[in-house]
Amino acid sequence: MGTSATAAYDKYADWYEHYMSADGVGDYVRRVHATLGDLLGPGAGTCLEVCCGTGAHASTLAELGWNPIGVDLSRGQLRHAVRRLPVVVADATALPLADGRVAAAVCVLASTDVPDYAAVLKEIARVLAPGGRFVHLGVHPCFVGAFADRRDGPRVVVDERYADRTRTFDSFNPAGVRARVGAWHVPMADLLNAATDAGLRLERTVEAGAGGVPELFGFRAVRDVGADKTR
Ligand SMILES: C[S@@+](CC[C@H](N)C(=O)[O-])C[C@H]1O[C@@H](n2cnc3c(N)ncnc32)[C@H](O)[C@@H]1O
Repeated sequence: MGTSATAAYDKYADWYEHYMSADGVGDYVRRVHATLGDLLGPGAGTCLEVCCGTGAHASTLAELGWNPIGVDLSRGQLRHAVRRLPVVVADATALPLADGRVAAAVCVLASTDVPDYAAVLKEIARVLAPGGRFVHLGVHPCFVGAFADRRDGPRVVVDERYADRTRTFDSFNPAGVRARVGAWHVPMADLLNAATDAGLRLERTVEAGAGGVPELFGFRAVRDVGADKTR
């Protein structure tokens, strides 16, 4: 899986590096970092950043005391990330780690970049130590996607494509990431069920955004100590 997403980001890696640090999305990235820090909290040990891209969140993890290690399929993205954290080229559905090894893991703004996010969550649960922490942070499944027209100020118009789980390049923003690399939509119930099916116990959820309609949704979960019995 994931080969088309890899090719897409290799092609846009320099653009993505600039996009994530540009003034236009600066406030957005600051909200991502604040929300990520709030959900993950301080800790020690390895924190695996799955689908780390250019490593834009490595400093947030390090400031919390964690030792971040990034994993991504795109060598183009990792060319930027190596300046920020140690990285490994790997598929998020086949992590090159033994079972139960890492203290924490995060996956940020990447749930819509893979055709099967449930498989990614299963793999993360496999490598987490019992009791290990996982933070998912992504675009809000209800209010951000090809199905959501956000052009009219604070009003968001959601249409029937909410139920469409196939890859699409449709986006209200022709200058953004999704018009370039596409996205797979993960509806809210699919997302939460995928986490619990993977043996991750939800502890906290968050919705965040600049206005009243949130643009980010995240959760913190822990790998259930008895999870092996159910997987
Ligand atoms: C929108 S970027 C997010 C990067 C970073 N987490 C951030 O917030 O800036 C999505 C990333 O997921 C990576 N990706 C897509 N499919 C993947 C897979 N199967 N395994 C590992 N990384 C993958 C892409 O290469 C890309 O770097």
